Amino acid sequence: NWTMENFIDTEINRIRQLVGPTAEVIGAVSGGVDSTVAAKLMKEAIGDRFHAIMVDNGVLRLNEAENVKQFLGEGLGINLSVIDAADEFLTKLKGVTDPEKKRKIIGNTFIHVFEREAENIKPKSGEEIEFLLQGTLYPDVIESISFKGPSQTIKTHHNVGGLLENMKLKLIEPLRELFKDEVRHLGELLGIPHDLVWRHPFPGPGIAIRVLGEVTREQVAIARKADHIYIEEIRKAGLYNKISQAFACLLPVKSVGVMGDQRTYEQVIALRAIETTDFMTADWFPFEHDFLKKVASRIVNEVDGVARVTYDITSKPPATVEWE
Ligand code: XMP
Repeated sequence: NWTMENFIDTEINRIRQLVGPTAEVIGAVSGGVDSTVAAKLMKEAIGDRFHAIMVDNGVLRLNEAENVKQFLGEGLGINLSVIDAADEFLTKLKGVTDPEKKRKIIGNTFIHVFEREAENIKPKSGEEIEFLLQGTLYPDVIESISFKGPSQTIKTHHNVGGLLENMKLKLIEPLRELFKDEVRHLGELLGIPHDLVWRHPFPGPGIAIRVLGEVTREQVAIARKADHIYIEEIRKAGLYNKISQAFACLLPVKSVGVMGDQRTYEQVIALRAIETTDFMTADWFPFEHDFLKKVASRIVNEVDGVARVTYDITSKPPATVEWE
């Protein structure tokens, strides 16, 4: 009979068979559930012959690279390299305002940085790297086979398909038969911390599509701080697990405000929080007024450059979850 405990044993054996006694495997980790669970499974199966690479693209959440280093590297004992490529990404994003172009630049730069880093990894065994790990889930498999709807062209989803062609690696996808809730269950059984297992999804292009308009280091810093405060308050209020996804966007408009007896002229933060089962349709989350009041006042007081906060009350459709 199929149980998750059996799945772990079967899958670990399958990975060992596939990889053999000496070959080496690389894979990207992002701090999200899927890549973390996949990486932990590889660690259990082949130890340090699995090399995880985390690319800091400069548009991750506040302290994310540092946090991943701690919970994947130190906590789970995964053989991990964190690559600081923020300058490279931000330089390429300079002057770019079109959301699709941002996505393409980030996807392509990611592949470039990952490949370069993979070449730097010289396994102690003297063997070449032979396999690439991907945290593909069952719905992704289905989507790539059968999904040809119009929305496919709405957004270019971040993918690493190009890696395979260029690097001639064989693919390992230990999660390809699982749904998201099964991956979470698996994560819990593998000893991955609860907060990580139940983390909201975060898009590949990250804060670059949450800073509307041009992405600069300064704009990213503002969006990041506001987002951090918002998520912290959501957690404090015990609402994190009731919400499917929440984040802050930085709008490229200025608005008048008043601080003491001074008039200010600064940017606007839009908060988004949604409830959904499949992300194809979504409702906005009905926060209490006092909660919104508290978050707005913290953001305006604690984040330089922001004078006004709004809450997005559009559902999907007609709006999308992200603002870009
Ligand atoms: P939308 O905005 O399309 O979002 O309603 C639905 C879900 O997809 C995520 N999303 C992305 N994820 N790369 C990703 O990896 C992307 O380019 C991208 N765009 C949207 C979004 O965060 C939400 O969970």
